[in-house]
Amino acid sequence: MLLCSKEQFSHSQEKKRSPHTTEMASKRVLITGSSGLLGRDCLKAFLQDPEWDTLGLAFSRAGGNLKKVDLTDSQQLSETVRDFKPAVILHSAAERRPDIVEKEEEKTAKLNVKSTQLLCDLAKEVGAYVLFISTDYVFDGTSPPYQPSATPNPLNKYGLSKAEGERVVSQASSENVVLRVPILFGVVEKLDESAVTVLFSKVKDASKPAEMNHFERRYPTSCADLAKAIKVLADNRSKNPDLTGFFHWSGTEMMTKYDMAVAMAEVFGLPTSHIVADTKPASGAPRPFDCHLDSSRLEQLGATERTPFRTAVKDALKNCL
Ligand SMILES: NC(=O)c1ccc[n+]([C@@H]2O[C@H](COP(=O)([O-])OP(=O)(O)OC[C@H]3O[C@@H](n4cnc5c(N)ncnc54)[C@H](OP(=O)(O)O)[C@@H]3O)[C@@H](O)[C@H]2O)c1
Repeated sequence: MLLCSKEQFSHSQEKKRSPHTTEMASKRVLITGSSGLLGRDCLKAFLQDPEWDTLGLAFSRAGGNLKKVDLTDSQQLSETVRDFKPAVILHSAAERRPDIVEKEEEKTAKLNVKSTQLLCDLAKEVGAYVLFISTDYVFDGTSPPYQPSATPNPLNKYGLSKAEGERVVSQASSENVVLRVPILFGVVEKLDESAVTVLFSKVKDASKPAEMNHFERRYPTSCADLAKAIKVLADNRSKNPDLTGFFHWSGTEMMTKYDMAVAMAEVFGLPTSHIVADTKPASGAPRPFDCHLDSSRLEQLGATERTPFRTAVKDALKNCL
């Protein structure tokens, strides 16, 4: 997994040690969840820009270039934030699997809400703002497209936990930013790292019927494109402190999971006849029908790059063929 080069990381660490740059840095970003699907691409996007001093955090997959910090351990987290003194805390870490959240509500609250509160408190202390990654699942999916000002009405416990995280972030400081995004995919090591790529395990096996949901509408979004959009937001914000509050960013291709599965089969020249459209609502935790996010506030800042689904998903699956 390419996270960042050692050279880039040690450069980042060197800058961190310099008292001069510690005082001066307005482009210093701390990224939680840097071993995760989105965090990996965000880390890469910031590390590629020498103007940014970047530190990535991870937990079970820490090591090498990623600093191990348990976000639910207030002492570890406080020490890290006070030592690095970021200008931006890009908070991507979360429990994001709706069916797990339904069963592990308390554990989820510790990460998705309590750690978020702690990060907001620490951000205030060191003069940083928090850029909180949230989800389209804070909406009920009945009245798309959703503007950033729309009122959340989550249908499941995951959506509730992220809506609570948003509340914490926006109440902590008017400087903070919430960015809502929809279903994500990117280069994975294991298919189940994304709700998009996980479909490929059934797509690949043409020996049995593969039922795919053809009811709920989704807007699959490439993490590489999204990381660039986040970077555009952070770059603009470093010049314009008025860029606070709520933003949305989303892919533009409306697809059901059935559509995604067929597209994946087609890009790899695989059979599609075993892929069966299931037109009933998804089972498990209740899912919203259509949460299309209006991305125009972020597009106006220059975040317009979107890779076509078929191109991006081919790249995403390259390690899993
Ligand atoms: N994936 C989606 O489809 C989707 C859709 C909408 C919104 N979002 C939001 O986007 C953000 C990123 O999601 P993602 O898909 O990148 O998540 P992910 O791949 O599941 O990654 C989760 C990250 O959280 C870290 N983490 C978990 N527990 C931790 C702890 N106790 N202390 C420190 N770090 C911890 C993990 O670190 P280790 O792996 O190293 O333990 C990992 O880096 C989340 O806020 C999510 O709610 C995701």
